[in-house]
Amino acid sequence: YLANKGKHRHFMEKEIYEQPEAIGHVLAHYVSLIENRADAVPIFDFASIPSLTISACGTAYLAGLIGKYWFERYARLTVEIDVASEFRYREIPLSPQSAALFISQSGETADTLASLRYCKKLGLKIGAIVNAAESSIAREADAVFPILAGPEIGVASTKAFTCQLAVLAALAISAARTRGTITENEVQALVRSLAEMPRIMGQVLNSIQPKIELLARELSKYHDVLYLGRGTSFPLAMEGALKLKEISYIHAEGYAAGELKHGPIALIDKNMPVIVIAPFDRFFNKTVSNMEEVAARGGRVILVTDEKGATASRLDTMHTIVLPAVDEIIAPMIFSLPIQLLAYHTAVFMGTDVDQPRNLAKSVTVE
Ligand code: G6P
Repeated sequence: YLANKGKHRHFMEKEIYEQPEAIGHVLAHYVSLIENRADAVPIFDFASIPSLTISACGTAYLAGLIGKYWFERYARLTVEIDVASEFRYREIPLSPQSAALFISQSGETADTLASLRYCKKLGLKIGAIVNAAESSIAREADAVFPILAGPEIGVASTKAFTCQLAVLAALAISAARTRGTITENEVQALVRSLAEMPRIMGQVLNSIQPKIELLARELSKYHDVLYLGRGTSFPLAMEGALKLKEISYIHAEGYAAGELKHGPIALIDKNMPVIVIAPFDRFFNKTVSNMEEVAARGGRVILVTDEKGATASRLDTMHTIVLPAVDEIIAPMIFSLPIQLLAYHTAVFMGTDVDQPRNLAKSVTVE
């Protein structure tokens, strides 16, 4: 595998294009877990835990943040989440009746492992969402939830991120069913939405590349980029910014759209494009009004939306990337694709070492 990029220029590109297959693979595993009904995750006893704790680093942390929205919304479960380097020292008053999830592609990240050990000592039930099944984090957990993404070589995480999301979505649905917070019909509808992902991902990957390359050529001329989103699109905005800065070295920030007024709006001018991630969901109109605030100050907007959103918004954007309209639960995974490809192609235009960006490591095993 190591030597083989297939027809792709970089492992990162290969791994982006592997996502429909990887997601199909992980879903096959977890949908049957959901369909096996109430005891999908017996170790966690989702019906009685008072709260859930999540900790991770980097991209895995941002996947956890999206997971938090799902556990809260569908399973009515309070979620405490932090980056592992803070989590391990915060002296959080955690209940031993509670459960904790640690997310790590490598399963070897030092801070995440230390957070796991901290929770284990306090008596919490430990779950690990990992790619490397033979890793330290997997070994020390009470329950392992493999993401089954296959080897990820590119330092910037892509398919591991969407596979982590698929596992978190499945666990949130399973928790919701166990806790009786959604109906059986809602469970079935969510499972049907998840099952559509491989097909929709394939369709998106087959169609958006020319548009993304055009946009990436332009983006590569800027020094600063702001990403905005609301709801689950907020962590995705942070992931978009992280991906871009990691591999293109362009300074980028991801912000909650509603926080625009509380700071970043002071930076808006024609030199800082604003990438707005806005599927046509219940937040769309609010996010569009943030977009209008950007446009009114001479800012350049790049809108990433779906067919319904593109019809509904009349704003004159610098670019609009239009994806198929999809159910809310799968939007973060589908919208990850243009975000990843944009960072990738921008870095290719800048001529950076995409798979081995300067100063970064695939796995951070020291504190
Ligand atoms: C490094 C990698 C990131 C990754 C993070 C956490 O920073 O470059 O891609 O998200 O570590 O790694 P883990 O293996 O724990 O997911």
